[in-house]
Amino acid sequence: MTGTEPVDEAARTEGGGPAHRTADGFRRLYGSPPEGVWAAPGRVNLIGEHTDYNDGFALPFALPQRTEVAAARRADGTVRLHSADIPSGVVTVHPAELDPARPPAGAAGWAAYPAGVLWALLEAGLPVGGADLHVRSDVPAGAGLSSSAALEVATALALTELYGIALTRPELAALARRAENAYVGVPCGVMDQTASACATEGHALHLDTRTLEQRHIPFDCAAAGLRLLVVDTRVKHDLADGAYAERLASCHGAAAELGLTALRDLPYAELDAALARLDDPVRVRRVRHVVTENERVVRVEELLRAGRLRETGPLLTEGHASLRDDYEVSCPELDLAVATANAAGAHGARMTGGGFGGSALALIDTDAEEAVTAAIAKAFDAAGFTAPRVTAAAPAAGAQRVL
Ligand code: GLA
Repeated sequence: MTGTEPVDEAARTEGGGPAHRTADGFRRLYGSPPEGVWAAPGRVNLIGEHTDYNDGFALPFALPQRTEVAAARRADGTVRLHSADIPSGVVTVHPAELDPARPPAGAAGWAAYPAGVLWALLEAGLPVGGADLHVRSDVPAGAGLSSSAALEVATALALTELYGIALTRPELAALARRAENAYVGVPCGVMDQTASACATEGHALHLDTRTLEQRHIPFDCAAAGLRLLVVDTRVKHDLADGAYAERLASCHGAAAELGLTALRDLPYAELDAALARLDDPVRVRRVRHVVTENERVVRVEELLRAGRLRETGPLLTEGHASLRDDYEVSCPELDLAVATANAAGAHGARMTGGGFGGSALALIDTDAEEAVTAAIAKAFDAAGFTAPRVTAAAPAAGAQRVL
């Protein structure tokens, strides 16, 4: 679909759903209707954490929370960016002046993501021109739910469809990741952008981050009498700080030391022998996490395929222990959320995303929602932590044109 039709006035005012609100915001701001509205979701990763920069496996799914971009082409080549959520005014970008060494900063820092996408599209030689963009999102920022990827993917989809550029979803994800790596300066893997671009409703996405092979695995908690809670600890994480890059360097160093292309190439059965060859106790722990985590993804996928959803719980909790003790990317709030959920009857729980804050997830029986939510709120209060935000999540659709 190429987004060259102006949004029909009647369609825009009917219903008044979120896409219409985004379109209305665009019209009020720029004085004419957008040509379309494109949306991309945040994600939760069920299992497979810190594996994507080790050529490993991940199993994310898309959240119903999404970022919408209303957009229209401009003839003068300029790109104007505006956020309904962040008071930075309209940020004007001149494509010829885009420089990864000088991304928008300060209050306009959010604009580095769409500007980076524009930069990545141009760098790839794609014929994108000027555009006006108005962005609105209900993906909480800094909650480990990939608000950045949602913004990147929605922008990439909007700009490419506006200009009739046909890209596959994995290509879109790769360009969005390129924007984050090379323009924003965060050395992330490809999981978040792939989940946002490629996930499908009702499914978890099994992603092989080496081959980029994808499998859509039915994941229907409600049908199994289960619910997946997302606990946003409200502890802000910042992947741009050095800890993420340090984990990545440690993994790549360990792979080289073991004579492997990536830690993905270390079979689970050979883990102990490989660990015995490493001197650095930190590398031992990092490698043990990555290899056991890949194995957990394999086992969770098998259980989901067999319809044995409840039994994934202990693997989630094992994954959390590994991230806490071996990978050292958890924090007291995440640990408390996991321990409390499990003590209150969850089948399993773990932190999700990059860590150092952000969100945890808990797999619970449907009728335990109130008790688990209350237990977590009480425990956070007793510990003097900021009240967490607890929501239930079910796999939603990946990026799409919504108006
Ligand atoms: C962040 C990164 C992802 C991935 C996760 C950890 O979300 O953006 O690429 O590495 O952390 O699994």
